[in-house]
Amino acid sequence: MSILEHMSPQEWENTAFAASFPKDFIWGAATAAYQVEGAVKEDGRGPSIWDQFSATPGKTAGGDTGDVAIDHYHRYNDDVALIKDLGLGAYRFSVSWPRVLPEGVGTINTAGLDFYDRLVDALLARGISPMGTLYHWDLPLALHEKGGWLNRDTAYAFADYAEVVARRLGDRVTSWQTHNEPWCVAFLGYGTGEHAPGIQDMSLVPTVGHNLLVAHGLAIPRLRSHTQPGVQLGITLNFTPPYAGDTHPATLVALEKAVRHEHWFTDPLFKGAYTEGIFDDFGASPAQIEADDLKIISTPIDFLGVNNYTRTVLQTGEDGVARAVHTVPGSLYTDMHWEVFPQALGDLLVRLTNEYAPPALVVTENGSAFPDEWDGNSDRVHDPLRLGYLQDHLQKVSWAIEQGAPVKGYFAWSLVDNFEWAFGYSKRFGIVYNDYPTQRRIIKDTGLWYATFIRQQHELHNS
Ligand code: FCB
Repeated sequence: MSILEHMSPQEWENTAFAASFPKDFIWGAATAAYQVEGAVKEDGRGPSIWDQFSATPGKTAGGDTGDVAIDHYHRYNDDVALIKDLGLGAYRFSVSWPRVLPEGVGTINTAGLDFYDRLVDALLARGISPMGTLYHWDLPLALHEKGGWLNRDTAYAFADYAEVVARRLGDRVTSWQTHNEPWCVAFLGYGTGEHAPGIQDMSLVPTVGHNLLVAHGLAIPRLRSHTQPGVQLGITLNFTPPYAGDTHPATLVALEKAVRHEHWFTDPLFKGAYTEGIFDDFGASPAQIEADDLKIISTPIDFLGVNNYTRTVLQTGEDGVARAVHTVPGSLYTDMHWEVFPQALGDLLVRLTNEYAPPALVVTENGSAFPDEWDGNSDRVHDPLRLGYLQDHLQKVSWAIEQGAPVKGYFAWSLVDNFEWAFGYSKRFGIVYNDYPTQRRIIKDTGLWYATFIRQQHELHNS
């Protein structure tokens, strides 16, 4: 049975929209190891900072952990079949560092690599391109105990790990990202402590950010020399573009600062220099910047991965202080209380193009959480708000391409509902619903629509 039969021609007609993407545009969906795999103690995997963090009372909603998650480790074959049914051309997954190197360095856990080997082969057998991310936040606990990302040695360990993975999978995986969202690792992990390892010290954030960038730059040549020719190497950054909500002078000052903050990682990556004053707000600069660091960091990459979900609106209150507005009147908000503002993604793609002329951009994450409900037995989950979100964002991606942005692909976050970090299982981002008690997957209307849209795009190009 084809899943596409579930969306009637009438439904499709009602939701169809006109947009044409380039012929070789990559349509995909994304996940990350700790959010989906489960099997945290199986086949020799070592503990990660997220195992420790989520097991600490009060750190995640409901005390949820990734111990089981959506059991992707065991169900990957069915999930790959689902990806195939959806007609996706690519799947973005992340490799769990502690599964491959339980201590972060040293002994390689072959059984851990075997899992990714099976996953990659299953994808390729169905004509789906595997896109791997090397670091989506699950640092081996053993490295954290030696200082984690505050310790520059972790950057060297990361480059070694990258090579281990590339030696095993580099003949088949065509695209790699070093990091996912270093901003979150540094800011949420070491600044606010909302994420693992839960450290709350803003003055450490610049050091962590710098070591992450060095790790990236050191890993790129190691990946190049152990992967097939033509491999696409990049890094994924997250952006929440700031906008002014009024013209108050304090707002404009805050806006300028926020805009500068959005350059924190892109300037060193593409210009080989840190933005003037970028560390002022942290009250500290990176502990150690060695002579060649910025050269290493700006090693050429093939694409920039862009994650975007929402924007920030700044406004000055009656007290004369500018701050981010909690709720913009009239705007729709997702279950994360993130404003739905598709133009931010379009503007962002155009800005990045104009400022850095990246060889390629890939939207590696974009999506929305809404409190979806499944009736317990039908094969439909209606999620009209997510569908609207997806369509409106695709429209803006298409607009950005018209403006000259070299956008080569779009990955919906996420393939299936999963462990949403500190929010546990309380937020559903999937284009496929997961029934946690049974681990049954039910394609949401958004997934059905996306599949139909992708098929239509192929038909447009083949007619
Ligand atoms: C991004 C993360 C991803 C997911 C989405 C909602 O910041 O990269 O893992 O949690 O947010």
